[in-house]
Amino acid sequence: MKIFLDTADLEELRTAARWGVLDGVTTNPTLFAKAAGGSYESVLAEICTLTPGPVSAEVVAENADGMVAQGRAFSKIAPNIVVKIPMSEQGLEAIARLRAEGIRTNCTLVFSTNQGLLAAKAGAVLVSPFVGRLDDISEDGMTVVRQLVEVFVTHEIRAEVLAASMRHPLHATQAALAGAHIVTLPFKVLQQMVHHPLTDSGIVQFRADWEKAQRARGAA
Ligand code: E4P
Repeated sequence: MKIFLDTADLEELRTAARWGVLDGVTTNPTLFAKAAGGSYESVLAEICTLTPGPVSAEVVAENADGMVAQGRAFSKIAPNIVVKIPMSEQGLEAIARLRAEGIRTNCTLVFSTNQGLLAAKAGAVLVSPFVGRLDDISEDGMTVVRQLVEVFVTHEIRAEVLAASMRHPLHATQAALAGAHIVTLPFKVLQQMVHHPLTDSGIVQFRADWEKAQRARGAA
């Protein structure tokens, strides 16, 4: 399973890249609004230098013509840009038109297996079910991930399931077990995945024992 970071924060992305675990990036208007820096295009250009993997850039136009125009512009920023298009009637048309031009898309705001199936049929290479937002309304978001993986395998659909709206490390484990091709994580969740209280206390204990042994040998 590939790990993407769900952020437009360059420092977070640089850190994950140094850890050797950054396979790609997803951004959206909300994440861009939180990040420091210049225009969306300039932030995307910088992000694309930090990973050769897919970097999702989300359109905000409401009709297919506008989405296609924004998608074309984003795709010129770098070869690894993937245009993020919301699930809708206009969005499906934009996905199909961009696909015809050879521009890769990520269909976002997917909340049902049928929506994901349609996105893949229209030509999206990435399909993003939002797990956390479904959990928030008392539905089991991971069910959509599990079903989409099964549908894509059964029907030999090449699109990848990108488990999005991840809120905690258990989501990452469950997405991996469900067979998601990709999980996109807030940096905080990635950090939480690194740590375990027994690992952290074990490191402290080994260090203390090492220093004790050094002192004992020095005294001998
Ligand atoms: C990813 O592509 C999505 O934009 C993101 O995971 C949404 O997460 P949220 O539901 O926490 O805003």
